[in-house]
Formats: sequence, structure tokens, C-alpha cells
Amino acid sequence: MHPVSYRLEASWQPDGGPFGRFTFTLFNFSGAPLSGFRIVYTSLTRVIDPKACDNAVFLRRNANFHEFAPPAGLTIENGGSWTFTVSGLHRNARHCTDGAKSAYLTLADGGHVPVAVSDLLLENAVSEPPPVRLPDGKLDQPYALQPWPAKLELRPGDGFPVVLYPAVGSTGEDVAAIDTVLAMYHRLFPAGHAPFSLAASKQGRAIVFTADAGLKAEAYRLDLSETEIRLSFGGSAGRQYGLTSLAQLLDGARNHPEKFRFPASGKISDAPRYSWRGCHLDVSRQFYPTADVARLIDILAWFKLNVFHWHLTDDEAWRLEIKAYPQLTTLGVLRGPDEPLLPQLGNGAEPVGGFYSQADVRAIVAQATALHVDVVPEIDIPGHSTATLVALPDLTDGQEAPESYHSVQGYPNNALNPAVAFTYEFLEKVLDEMVELFPSAYIHIGGDEVANGSWLASPLAKKLMEQEGISGTFALQSYFLKRVKQMLTARGRKLAGWNEVAHGGGVSTEDTLLMAWERPEVGIELAREGYDVVMTPGQAYYLDMAQADAWQEPGASWAGTATPAHTYGYEAEGEFPDELKARLRGVQACIWSEHYLSRGYFNRLVFPRLPAIAEAAWTPKSAKDWLRFAAIAPLSPNL
Ligand code: ACM
Repeated sequence: MHPVSYRLEASWQPDGGPFGRFTFTLFNFSGAPLSGFRIVYTSLTRVIDPKACDNAVFLRRNANFHEFAPPAGLTIENGGSWTFTVSGLHRNARHCTDGAKSAYLTLADGGHVPVAVSDLLLENAVSEPPPVRLPDGKLDQPYALQPWPAKLELRPGDGFPVVLYPAVGSTGEDVAAIDTVLAMYHRLFPAGHAPFSLAASKQGRAIVFTADAGLKAEAYRLDLSETEIRLSFGGSAGRQYGLTSLAQLLDGARNHPEKFRFPASGKISDAPRYSWRGCHLDVSRQFYPTADVARLIDILAWFKLNVFHWHLTDDEAWRLEIKAYPQLTTLGVLRGPDEPLLPQLGNGAEPVGGFYSQADVRAIVAQATALHVDVVPEIDIPGHSTATLVALPDLTDGQEAPESYHSVQGYPNNALNPAVAFTYEFLEKVLDEMVELFPSAYIHIGGDEVANGSWLASPLAKKLMEQEGISGTFALQSYFLKRVKQMLTARGRKLAGWNEVAHGGGVSTEDTLLMAWERPEVGIELAREGYDVVMTPGQAYYLDMAQADAWQEPGASWAGTATPAHTYGYEAEGEFPDELKARLRGVQACIWSEHYLSRGYFNRLVFPRLPAIAEAAWTPKSAKDWLRFAAIAPLSPNL
């Protein structure tokens, strides 16, 4: 008995075509002969020459969805197999995750049945094993702090207090702050020993809280002695960070006494290097249940990251409930063989959906706010909008030529049209609901990867360009984004976007923050133009990039590969001229989800690079130390 009756094996031969060749073999374990079927697989290595396949007939492709038929009359006997090859690929396969992410069969009666797949095998070439990504590391000082503080001078103790508790005279807010960090700790480490107690304990040590107007809001100081711990803080964020450091020190000493100690005495003086310490999560390509999002926010807080950039929409799905347009989270999320949105990126025979209700969002925002994490929502417009356009077809110019342009991910005609009046009515209503849900100063509106040539086959867009005296995709994009910026300003919000927002004339630099992702130099160019900048270069901070070139390393490599050491060592400020440094607001990790089909892959790709970025965001350059980080990083919680 096989739980799945069919399996598709896939290998890639580097010398089989201009970009190599896939060989697929479908095995039949169903107990019956198989004939009169079609096969679908999803793969980021796309077929662009439909004729370049052998022993199969190419039927259609939409982005990474591919459909083939076997040669006429083919029957695969039970226990038998069918092999076909595909060589008209758009690029080389480079990693084990570049093959079929999912597959299914459509049978003669129209039913769909699942097909199991494995990672892609490399043939006719040496398949290097993945290298060691994290050395054992080396500790000069035995403290389990992540990120490492700006300054510390500590004497290690021989033992450790059982718990830390608020001294007599602590305010209700101080006690509540302990409770918040304690609850976060329990969620992150359900089997861990509580580092804090709200009640005094004879074997514990008291924390004496002092608000210190001389410290910045996120800064704190710890003065430790054998009898008490004095925690001075600038604001409630600083108090939380001081408590988090104490929880980390105690947890390390208790659970890994061979490496870590709790300080008997001494001082920590700490404050972040950057004010924007972000982590982005793409929940469109794969859906993350609310509990996973909540856990990620706890992880961010544990690493003293303070921005959660929630990438809620993309071509693959619109995940945010908007009451004015319920279609967005019905038609705009459900992917399946017979749904308006075809399967992509690991979807198979069963329809899959998933979205965040407004109640879910409120709960996430409340949790994040309590932990001093600002939730910055993103709706990715005008590009990356396939799901939106499928949900609301009135957003399209009905006269626009179909497939008149394709995004870099292979989606046809996927951008909201700046010349359709409904586009603005739609966005006004969406933003009305978003500002009710998200208190963040910034709303992120995407602005990335609009394909050159977008809208040029739209009669409405042509007319608008004539009226406005502008020409070309990016001038029109700038026209559109300026209108979106006005909508945000009218709602008291600032615009955040990806670096291409600056194309074609861009938007006003006032209250605009752009994320430099394409190359580090882009960040400097944007700062020179007057934009505030967050550095999130794909080459170091995109956590979907593989951690090495080796075939067995999962992930992508279009921006290069990044070992944890490279990510840790990358200095966003590196090339910034002094006069532009004030524009550099901070740094951010980006978790794009195309390859995150399992929690295993998520944890393998995100860790330890996320805490590496957290340390780069917090710790001054002079206090960064890769081997120390490598020794502490294995203590990181993961999803
Ligand atoms: C992006 O990676 N397209 C922002």
C-alpha cells in the first residue's frame, strides 16, 4: 500500500540543452494501469521552449505551473514508469530545490490525484555535499547574549540565581514588563525553566528598576552584584531589552554551564546601532498560520529586532481580509487545478488557501506591540498583483492585449493599471481598512519588479500617458505611486517601498523610506536622491538565497549565495559616504517563501542568518565577532 499512488522522479543534466535538461520519470503504484492522463508539476526552472521536450507534449505554462501530456496511446502499467525529458529551460538548475516542487495527475474523468516528488538530482557532474555552515566558534567571555551588547564588563559567577524577581518598590509597569518577557520566554522555550518570578524568591535575585531620562528609549544599563541587579532604562523598549538580556544570560548559564555563566557582578551598557532592525516575511508564496507568525514575532523580540514587515500580497495570493472586497480572500487565495488561480510553488491536486482575518491581524499587532515590534504591512502594488486581478477582474483594462508583458517570475499582465479609475477607488478602500488595523507610521506599498513594457498595450494607459505628457512604463509607475503616496499622506501615514519606487521620477522623498534590495550600491544612490534607506541587499540579507553554491544547499542563488559568515560580516554602512549616513535608517532580513515548502527548509535557511542580521543591526561594528556569534547562535529558538 502506497500512501500516494504515483511518484515523479526528476534529475537535471547540465549538458542536455542550452540550460541543461530535466529528465522526469513517473512511477505508477496505483494497482491499475494508467492512461489518458495529463501531468502537472510546479518548478521555478521554467520551460520556455515548448518544442524542446522529448516523449511528452507540452500543453501550457503559467509562471511555474507546467502541464504536459504523454505521447498518444501511452499506458503505464502498475509498477511501471514513463520517462520524458525537457530541455527548453530558461536558466540552469543550480540547487536541489530547482526541480519539481509538486506534481499531480489529471485523469481521463477530470479528477486530480497527487504525485509525490523529491528534491532534484544532479547528473553527470560532481554533486558537492553542503559545507559546514557554522563552526564551533570561540568564546572569550562566557555569556549567552544575542545580539552582543555594545559594552560589557562582567565577572562570571560560579552559580546562578534560580529566578530574578522585581524588587520591593517596582512599579506595576515594571512587573508587567517582566510578565511580558516571561510569557515570551515560555512560548519560545516551552520546556525551559522560568528566568523570572513575579513573586520574591529566597534563591532568587531582585531587579531594581530605574527609569533614566539620560538614556535613549531603546537603551538600558545593567549593574549586577551578588545581592541585586539594577536595570536602568530609557523607555519601555529599553526595559524590555534589559530583561531579555537577563533572560538570555540565565538561560545560557542554566542549560549550557559548560560554555556559559551568569555574571556575579559588573555592568552592561547597551543601545542599538540602528533604529530600523527589521525582518520581512512573505506569506503570499506560502501561507503561514497565525501561530507561526506569532512565534516569529517572539523570535524577533528575543533578538531585539523591532520591525516585522508583513508581505501580505503577491502574485500567488492576497492574504489580508478586506471587508469591502471579500473576493480578495476567496478567489484571491485559493489555488487548485480547477480554481481561477492555478497551483504554483508546491501546490498540488488539493486546493490550498489561507488568509488572515482582521481579528487575526489585530491579535498579531497586539502581541507585536506589547513586545516593541512595529508591524509594517505591505500590499505589493502595482506589480505582483496576479491574485488581485483574478479576484477583481474589473481592475483590468479589458482592451489590453493578453500576455502583453511578463514579470520576471513569468506572470503575464500582472500589474494594477494606473489608468483604470477603479484602481484608485479600490486602493482607497483597502488603505482605509489597513490604517484601522495597523498603527505603524509606515505602510509598505511594494513598487518592485514592474516589468518594463507593462501597460504599453493598454489603450487606457496610452490615453492617460498622452493626457499627462509622459511616456513609458516607469513614468506611468511614478504617476501611480505619487497618487498612492497622496492617499497615505491623507491618512497620516508614510510610504515605504522597494528601491524601484524611485524609478521613472519616483515620489516625493519627504516621509518616504525605500528598501535597497537589488545591490548595496542602490542604497547609496537612493540616499543621494534624498530618500531614507533600509539596507536589505539580496546578496547578504535575502534568506531564501542558498547558504553555499553546493547543489545540496536548498534555496535560490539569483542574487548569489550567502554563508552565515558572509551575512554576519556584511556591513551595510560599508560604502556609505559620511554625509549620507544619516539617511541609513537600518537593516532588514527578508524571508521570501518560494522555497519554504517545509518547516525543515525554513529553519535551515533562516537560522543562523536571522540572528546574524539581528547582531549586525544592534551591535557596533567594533564589537562584532563571528566566532563568538558562532558559539552562541546554536541557542537560537527556531520556528
Ligand atoms: C524584491 O525582491 N522583489 C523586492
